[in-house]
Amino acid sequence: MSENSSNRSATAPDGDRRILVTSALPYANGSIHLGHLLEHIQTDIWTRFQRLRGNECYSVCADDAHGTPVMLKAQELNITPEEMVARTRAEHHQDLLDFHVEYDNYYVTHSPENKALCEEIYHRLDNAGYISKHTINQLFDPQKEMFLPDRFVKGTCPSCGAEDQNGDSCDVCGATYAPTEVVNPRSVVSGATPVLKESEHFFFDLPKFEGMLKSWIRSGALQEEMANKLEEWFEEGLQQWDISRDSPYFGFEIPGTTNKFFYVWVDAPVGYMASFQHYCNEHNIDFDSFWKEGSETELYHFIGKDITYFHCLFWPAMLEGAGYRKPTGVNIHGFVTVNGAKMSKSRGTFIKGRTYLDYLNPEYLRYYFAAKLGDGVSDIDLNFTDFAQKVNSDLVGKVVNIASRCAGFITKRFDGTLSDNVLEPELVRDFQNAAPRIAGLYEKRKYHQAIREIMALADRANQFIDANAPWVTIKEEGKEAFTHDVCSLGINLFRLLVVYLKPVLPVLAGKAEAFLNDELTWASLDTVLTGHAINKFKPMMQRVEMEKIDAMIDASKESLAAPEPAVDPNSPLGQDPISDTISFDEFAKVDLRIAKIAHAEHVEKADKLLRLELDLGGETRQVFAGIKSAYSPEALIGKHTVMVANLAPRKMRFGLSEGMVLAAGPGGDELYIMEPHEGAKPGMRVK
Ligand code: MSP
Ligand code: ZN
Repeated sequence: MSENSSNRSATAPDGDRRILVTSALPYANGSIHLGHLLEHIQTDIWTRFQRLRGNECYSVCADDAHGTPVMLKAQELNITPEEMVARTRAEHHQDLLDFHVEYDNYYVTHSPENKALCEEIYHRLDNAGYISKHTINQLFDPQKEMFLPDRFVKGTCPSCGAEDQNGDSCDVCGATYAPTEVVNPRSVVSGATPVLKESEHFFFDLPKFEGMLKSWIRSGALQEEMANKLEEWFEEGLQQWDISRDSPYFGFEIPGTTNKFFYVWVDAPVGYMASFQHYCNEHNIDFDSFWKEGSETELYHFIGKDITYFHCLFWPAMLEGAGYRKPTGVNIHGFVTVNGAKMSKSRGTFIKGRTYLDYLNPEYLRYYFAAKLGDGVSDIDLNFTDFAQKVNSDLVGKVVNIASRCAGFITKRFDGTLSDNVLEPELVRDFQNAAPRIAGLYEKRKYHQAIREIMALADRANQFIDANAPWVTIKEEGKEAFTHDVCSLGINLFRLLVVYLKPVLPVLAGKAEAFLNDELTWASLDTVLTGHAINKFKPMMQRVEMEKIDAMIDASKESLAAPEPAVDPNSPLGQDPISDTISFDEFAKVDLRIAKIAHAEHVEKADKLLRLELDLGGETRQVFAGIKSAYSPEALIGKHTVMVANLAPRKMRFGLSEGMVLAAGPGGDELYIMEPHEGAKPGMRVK
């Protein structure tokens, strides 16, 4: 594959390149999970590699603040979207830092720089004749008084009649359709039946850019398989792109209008520019040299395959239309699957970054992803057995082991100083000669091959030590100098391996630098440490424990045991739309009983659950209830409540849950358990 073949990277010598790198901006209405982390780790490794090589490389990211889901989530939490976004941004940023993913600026799209850039780009596009207005009909929620994005409409599939399908596609028969075609549509927000309503929308003339886009996608900016995919889209025909949304909408108002906002996908990619602009202003860097048309610098976006359309059609067209440069490359990756399947909340494999960090070392994940990541778009399976095995055998068993086998002798017997002699210069040269190959693999994002090369070298270092057995020769007379040379070479080989691994494992590299008493850059590959004082060896990495992985998966199940907060606390119906009717017989199957809360307590490590002991008048049940955010255990003990007594018991991480207590409310601290009138006795049936 010849992607990025026309990049400056092919011609500019290393150390002379000026590069700007971005990762897709995570939405501000959810947590960072292991899927996001694949991308951020991929980007971070590439950025660190460029810097290690001496290139001027900047990286920026941000939270994607705008749009309907963010707006509704903030309403549900009863805070302003600004406040919610500020909180989420801080949380996301910290999660990333804790995985050692370091951006020069981690910003937010709801920023003054972004607003100004969006307005400027819009004006330029408008002046150039790329914006037009048309009136369209759209589904409108009369109760909530808002237009409904496709995913906020549900109803019966017009194709197969399956109920409760999404507004744009059917999970049962796979049909895709317009939300206006859905039978018996209802608004996910309020439950109301949507009506058709007219509104004037603004459109961006994407078809005008077809020629430019066709040549750009073949310029080396895209992986070949993605360029082919895009050809299919051209065959289907490019459409005018609707870039406006009506109020209420959390976003930037379109200049010259009232109550019309830029669609979130307009300001999100401009957010890359805005985040960088903020950084440039603070650090006196020339923003224009990275963004103006014809600029000599390199620009790369790292994204997942689901957002290709936005980055490879809309975005380059917007840039071209507004007189900015286009990306040098859009680097597209596949999706993370866990243990062979899509990440699943019920299986506990939808793992948040924070939950992972509670149990495992972030460098394990960085290494594992690196060992699996190629330059293609196929999915990456995170298999936890393989994960533990790979980290333990490669990092602990091979790499760190080299240093730990040699260091003790140097410290105890040779005054902590490496020998002046290089025992096997050819072996050292082999390690050094791998540099261009390994650099080429990092550059092309073929990290898995780079890791394979590095581990093959680690095997050779271990074979060298095995063959010379310093632990034997150290006891033999006259072998002192030889043993010193063997251990010194072992440590030098370790040092070269750490240079190669530094983009992937910055913390391990930091520990190795402290031990080696040396700062490592790509140029360190040209030298061998002789007569050099090193420091005492300290363990650099623990083995992965399977129990920790199991506990992390259990914890990921737990965080879902609590009821999902409902969509709209302001709706007169309460929170949820009223469900479809059921027969009396169906209702009678639910055995509701009065229960006395005999005991209540916190559950260690569970942030939403309380453990309750419920007295059913002769029988005691243990129930884990997701009501911790609303009740302290003390407040519950002694109260009577209503429970579902015949719910199949559910095994949870903390024990068996034998039933369910009934509570109402949107969630969070707004949850109210049911309490019967005085006189109701434990065990009485509720009918
Ligand atoms: N906000 C938009 C991006 C705007 S960029 C101008 C968005 N956000 S997202 O939070 O849904 O996704 C952010 C990135 O994470 C995307 O590149 C997406 O492909 C990636 N991933 C989300 N889930 C993923 C996996 N399970 N696996 C790998 N990457 C995944 O889209
Ligand atoms: Zn269907």
